[in-house]
Amino acid sequence: MLDGLYENSPWITQAALRRRPFTSLAQLKHVMTQVLDTATREAQLALICAHPELAGKAMLSQTLTAESTHEQSRAGLRDCSPQEFAKIQQLNADYNARFGWPFILAVRGPRGTGLSRQQIIASFERRLGEHPDFEFQECLRNIHRIAEIRLNDKFGVEPTLGNRVWDWQEALSVHSDNGFAEKNQLTVTYLTPAHRACAAQIGQWMLDCGFDEVVHDAVGNVVARYHASSPDAKYLLTGSHFDTVRNGGKYDGRLGIFVPMAAVRELQRAGRRLPFGIELVAFSEEEGQRYQATFLASSALLGAFRSEWLEQKDADGITLREAMQQAGLCPNDIPKLRREAAHYLGFVEVHIEQGPVLNELNLPLGIVSSINGSVRYLGEISGMASHAGTTPMDRRRDAACAVAELMLYCEQRAAQDGDSVATVGLLEVPGGSINVVPGQCRFSIDLRAPNDAQRDTLVRDVLARQQAICARRGVHASLQETLRVAAAPSASAWQTRWERAVAALGLPLHAMPSGAGHDAMKLHEIMPQAMLFVRGENAGISHNPLESSTSDDMQLAVEAFGLLLENLASDF
Ligand code: GLV
Ligand code: MN
Ligand code: MN
Repeated sequence: MLDGLYENSPWITQAALRRRPFTSLAQLKHVMTQVLDTATREAQLALICAHPELAGKAMLSQTLTAESTHEQSRAGLRDCSPQEFAKIQQLNADYNARFGWPFILAVRGPRGTGLSRQQIIASFERRLGEHPDFEFQECLRNIHRIAEIRLNDKFGVEPTLGNRVWDWQEALSVHSDNGFAEKNQLTVTYLTPAHRACAAQIGQWMLDCGFDEVVHDAVGNVVARYHASSPDAKYLLTGSHFDTVRNGGKYDGRLGIFVPMAAVRELQRAGRRLPFGIELVAFSEEEGQRYQATFLASSALLGAFRSEWLEQKDADGITLREAMQQAGLCPNDIPKLRREAAHYLGFVEVHIEQGPVLNELNLPLGIVSSINGSVRYLGEISGMASHAGTTPMDRRRDAACAVAELMLYCEQRAAQDGDSVATVGLLEVPGGSINVVPGQCRFSIDLRAPNDAQRDTLVRDVLARQQAICARRGVHASLQETLRVAAAPSASAWQTRWERAVAALGLPLHAMPSGAGHDAMKLHEIMPQAMLFVRGENAGISHNPLESSTSDDMQLAVEAFGLLLENLASDF
């Protein structure tokens, strides 16, 4: 029955089956990845080479395996226009010349329903530029994805809950801010029309799923409550954010809204109430894009929303207060959003990993052990604008060079720790000209480390170096701290709950720190929290439109969430 999962290579399944019995298909899938992982490179290469070219000779002469015929026709590769066909042939030839093996892509895609020809060609073009070692592994990962879909087909299994979560994210991504929507980019920043449309849509879906109450609160969060079996029971708090970075991905934040939504929909359809309620918050702001204030949505739940933030201005000079008023929010009501920790069991957040770890380990889920602490600055260095042709190199006060020097120091200093990171993500010479030595340079610094002490030493060194650079170069710096969030180790009882849920799915446990910041690190200040990570495709890239995750992985996340609820209920 399982022949054909791996193209002309039944040995992989055979070796995996020697490790029977399996708790779940997910476990069998993982064991098959382990078999291939421990095989020789020659055997791995032979497997890659057993695959036909996309829309290649084998497709035309109809000598593909039954599985490949199905996949290639489902992806519409049989219906290529002459131009598309010629393009793919050229890419096949270029790819083979560069790497020496055929290009492997799971053309059924992350949702299993088939990538478009444009998507296939775009992946092909992008991956042609990858490093051969990376590309070799990426081919193997695509082969595992192909096997996963074939296995589902053979068992008649469809990740229906994962598909629903995937489809919600796809549907929500139609809303994007002006200036980005036109370019087909996803950008949803705080309280723009697209942001308001997202909130309205999420609120509607929450009602459709059977939540008992849905409220749009004073900071623009959408808060849904599913009542417990008894009226004075505590609540489990969960959720994540729906704002995005500029030209971001569709899953960052949103996955953590839709996974619990799907789980509650199942409870409601089964007519079940738990001994605790579920409060799901779709946080309106986490990314710190439009205003300097970051995590302002989760801060409001801690009673830590600072009223002076209301005077901050966006790039168009609109204050936060004005933006809120225009959106019909009432800033005076924000203090009322403060949650009483005693009314809650704790906070759990599901999030796409946003990094390569789970992807490399062929693991769909990971358990977060801690969230790295961070500090951010917005800075400006002022030197002296002067003539680019006449100012000798030893007489310049070049503000951009000073920032460049600091930027390289940040890179080198963070690397020294091994697990700290430093990023200058904004860099601008305001009003600069090609023939003027920069007199001013604006920049940002984002510093993170696994614990606060390590982060603080990093910060101290960076600030000391900034002063030394400015003194030597005769320039002046002003630096404004815009964010400081403590590292947030997971509460061990809650981390264990996620571990039990993942283990019950038959998957190995992998605990890992989170390099990214999350709403959970704010809730951490008032209640126990722990997070679950879901593998990202494309080497886990995030804050990038290539961010992706499969509906099979989302299915497992919904199942893990459901199991966490069951375990928690059984504690009562
Ligand atoms: C949030 O996405 C962050 O970690 O910057
Ligand atoms: Mn993000
Ligand atoms: Mn996020």
